[in-house]
Amino acid sequence: MVKNCHMMIFGSTGDLTYQKLLPAIFDLYKSKDLCDQFQLVCIGRKAYTLDEYLEPIGEQYHKQIEFHDFKKHILYFQMDFTNSEAYKTLTQFDFTKHWVFYLATAPRFFRLITESLQANQYLDQENGFKRIVFEKPFGENFEDAKTINQAIRNILEEDQIYRIDHYLGKEMIQNILLTRMYNNVIEMLWHKDAIESVEIVISEKDGVKNRGNYYDHSGALKDMVQNHIFQIVALIAMELPENLTPSEIRSEKNKILKKIQLTTDNVFGQYEGYHQEKDIPEGSKTETFVAMKLLIDSKRWENVPFYIKTGKALAIKHAHVVVRFKKNKGNVNENVLMIEIQPEEGIYLQMNSKMPGISTDVTKVTMNYCHSCLKYGAEPSAYSRLLLDTMLGDKSLFASWEEIETSWEIVDKVVKIKEKQELVIYEPYKMWDQYVLVEKGWWIDD
Ligand code: BG6
Repeated sequence: MVKNCHMMIFGSTGDLTYQKLLPAIFDLYKSKDLCDQFQLVCIGRKAYTLDEYLEPIGEQYHKQIEFHDFKKHILYFQMDFTNSEAYKTLTQFDFTKHWVFYLATAPRFFRLITESLQANQYLDQENGFKRIVFEKPFGENFEDAKTINQAIRNILEEDQIYRIDHYLGKEMIQNILLTRMYNNVIEMLWHKDAIESVEIVISEKDGVKNRGNYYDHSGALKDMVQNHIFQIVALIAMELPENLTPSEIRSEKNKILKKIQLTTDNVFGQYEGYHQEKDIPEGSKTETFVAMKLLIDSKRWENVPFYIKTGKALAIKHAHVVVRFKKNKGNVNENVLMIEIQPEEGIYLQMNSKMPGISTDVTKVTMNYCHSCLKYGAEPSAYSRLLLDTMLGDKSLFASWEEIETSWEIVDKVVKIKEKQELVIYEPYKMWDQYVLVEKGWWIDD
């Protein structure tokens, strides 16, 4: 249990809070990871009673008896966080305790909120720690991210800053490095001589839902590629550090991110009907789909294509990494290692084997490791895991500033490429992505 730590959410009436943060904190409450006096302060501009505020979280929560107990720990506090004068009204909370502030807001407010908390001495650490979680994307581009970082570093020590990327809290993402580190049979083949290509896919069925305002500024590139996808590329491609310490891992991830090379093979798409979604301006050219071929300028990965693909309003929701090994003889199927991130969690190895019986034909067989099958009881969601780490002061699963900086440098270049390229309009909820890319000749989906 974390002792005496409270939490305050800015941007508490947004989708992120209802869909991810409140359920994650409720899970921590149920698993008794929060202290008895735990207080969750949800800051919002509108006048709501607590019941009105909590209504959108959904019936499945309201039905649970434990949720009614959990509600006693929540306080909805009406305040306009964009008005620095308004922060005076927060004096009623006891900031001598430990506090985690969660900024579930657009990055343009990160600086204002941090400076206003500081100006009112709420970040004073004499008696209790003060940590701030910054939701992604951290900034809107490289320059913006740098400005924000400098401003918050003027106020906070690096160990008070948590730049969150919730994919790093997912079980199978955490498992990538361990699988490489502790399976020589894999790590010994983890290079250009054995590997033909790597595919990293995060596909979503939902469109932009109620997040049009945010999403239209961001697009798939800044919403998914700059952070989640690049973090996965880094974990797959990095050199293994001597020790799996947070600082060594981050430093190796950053080294490999710096070696990413863009190519001319890129597809940017937008789903049909995007303009009819709430808060999307007519004529918007924001991409809801990105597929790119990347190369990595290192000895280990020379000429091995990394295909990345992510988009909204696609046929299915899933995320996985596919590592294709080189074929050796004739028409025998290649070996494929698939790391399933979601909805299933596991590792599958496709091999060749003799057909049973008198035939000597060879057939594809799959060896399956089901990670979720090993779970005992409820596993923490990515957000609960990361929120708990924040309260415990463990930054292992958070991105470093250097990685974020490098990722922005690359994405800024991709934005320029995108401006010159045609935006493909695709039919939502179809296997569109497969057809287009297979036709293009550099994408094979399973
Ligand atoms: C978020 C993006 O970071 O990740 C969303 O802002 C996206 O647009 C979400 O839907 C996907 O997360 P998950 O865990 O549902 O795959």
